[in-house]
Amino acid sequence: MSALEQSWSKLTEHAKALQSTALTELFDADPNRFQKFSRTFDDLLIDFSKCQVTEETLELLLDLAAAAKLEQTRDAMFSGEKINTTENRAVLHTALRNQSDRQIMVDGKDVMPDVADVLVRMGEFSEGIRSGEITAANGMPFTDVVNIGIGGSDLGPVMATLALAPYHDGPRTHFVSNVDGAHIHDTLKELDPATTLVIVASKTFTTIETMTNAATARKWLVEACGEQAVAHQFAAVSTALDKVSAFGIDADRVFGFWDWVGGRYSIWSAIGLPLMIAIGPDAFGEFLAGAHAMDEHFRTAPLENNLPVLLGLLGIWHRNALGYHTRAILPYDQRLSRFPAYLQQLDMESNGKQVTKDGTAVTNQTGPIVWGEPGTNGQHAFYQLIHQGTTVIPCEFIAAVNSHEPELTTHHNLLLANCLAQSEALLRGRSLAQVQEKMKAAGADATQIEQLAPQKVFPGNRPSTTILYEKLTPFAFGRLIALYEHRVFVEGVIWNINSFDQWGVELGKELATQLLPMIEKPVEATDKDGSTRGLLAYVHSLGKA
Ligand code: F6P
Repeated sequence: MSALEQSWSKLTEHAKALQSTALTELFDADPNRFQKFSRTFDDLLIDFSKCQVTEETLELLLDLAAAAKLEQTRDAMFSGEKINTTENRAVLHTALRNQSDRQIMVDGKDVMPDVADVLVRMGEFSEGIRSGEITAANGMPFTDVVNIGIGGSDLGPVMATLALAPYHDGPRTHFVSNVDGAHIHDTLKELDPATTLVIVASKTFTTIETMTNAATARKWLVEACGEQAVAHQFAAVSTALDKVSAFGIDADRVFGFWDWVGGRYSIWSAIGLPLMIAIGPDAFGEFLAGAHAMDEHFRTAPLENNLPVLLGLLGIWHRNALGYHTRAILPYDQRLSRFPAYLQQLDMESNGKQVTKDGTAVTNQTGPIVWGEPGTNGQHAFYQLIHQGTTVIPCEFIAAVNSHEPELTTHHNLLLANCLAQSEALLRGRSLAQVQEKMKAAGADATQIEQLAPQKVFPGNRPSTTILYEKLTPFAFGRLIALYEHRVFVEGVIWNINSFDQWGVELGKELATQLLPMIEKPVEATDKDGSTRGLLAYVHSLGKA
């Protein structure tokens, strides 16, 4: 048996042995459990004491990390090695926020000067738009910015602009992603074409949704302001500079990035342009600095105190040793309402894989289903299942200790109280005896107690992790995203999968291209399955226009 196989098998055995020990027993047995199973990095705290782990669990998980060569692979990523083997690319989103003077070499060339150059150009452009120095075709300052992109070219900017709303002092920003015409229609109908800047964001500049929306936006602008407005009011962000120029966007309005930046890791690149226009280059710099701080922590902190490593190993523990299929991301922060969706792409597109890096079938379960909504709203929707359903869902609570609204402290106190209450409830639950006693004290008779008590039982013993920090500043927010990015990396290394490709999105794209003419006109779809033929026939039977 290899060292890796041995580590897996020890972990599985340990999980079996530990499964009958309730979380409350672990707390009762150790008054220092919180201290032992929580870690901080500056003001950032991760409390995983409410997960079913012991010191032995941590040791075994760290052994697994060593056997999987986590540190070596991490160092290979930071140094620019082509660890995205299926696409033969380096993985260097960390270079985009590298604020040290370390060189980062790809194919014998230091990438840092180009990174710095694009950042300066983005800064100048953003400042120009924000100050009104760069104007629309009619000489008026821009009032609105529309970012057209999808996936990584949308989720990051839209999520981050919302998260950092208290710092938003530039023009209004809007995001169009879906090819559903309703999205662009409803967005543009509110805007004045004469003072709107359109940013077309696409790493490849081929994504059909983005190209279709960009063409519609172009037509909208040209119809209202004439062809000459395009040069003034369109900008693009892409790695495919030749394709951008074919679209007709001026070179000085094009901001490039590189194939070593994955789409879902691209918020730090020029894809962050709408965010920079919204919050300004200084705040954007703080956002990068926060991510860089987490990079340095991940790169240098001992594994047992390394936050992304521990978060990743806990993910492995839950997914593989305890067999939980899903994880819920529950930010107690309305401005992080798109964070779960962002993490869905980050996590599920990265680690939703079934073969290892060498193409053989994985022998372990890989990425869990990631989902979530902000609290407290989720409490009034799906928490019922989290507390009393038959599926155990490890929950990740995220909250800032202080809000941006000091005048609304009552709100924030209630928010935090609810956040802490949920993890407490998941831990302790409420037994049948406790329910019976409570009902009795409230005056219920024996029949009522017999009938209702079982409904009111909470099994408890359900794992959760809590992440707290002082305030959601650009720095803290950059740090939080980088924490999750590296967590996904850690899990991918342990599973020996390539977290940086996404072949699983290709088949649907190909089939959509084939199906388009069959949607446009009724044709014999003989090569299609019975269901797809039936659906096509139904579409046309309803008089598809
Ligand atoms: O859905 C696949 C994907 O390639 C994502 O990884 C990416 O973020 C998104 O499409 C958008 O791609 P692009 O930026 O090239 O338009």
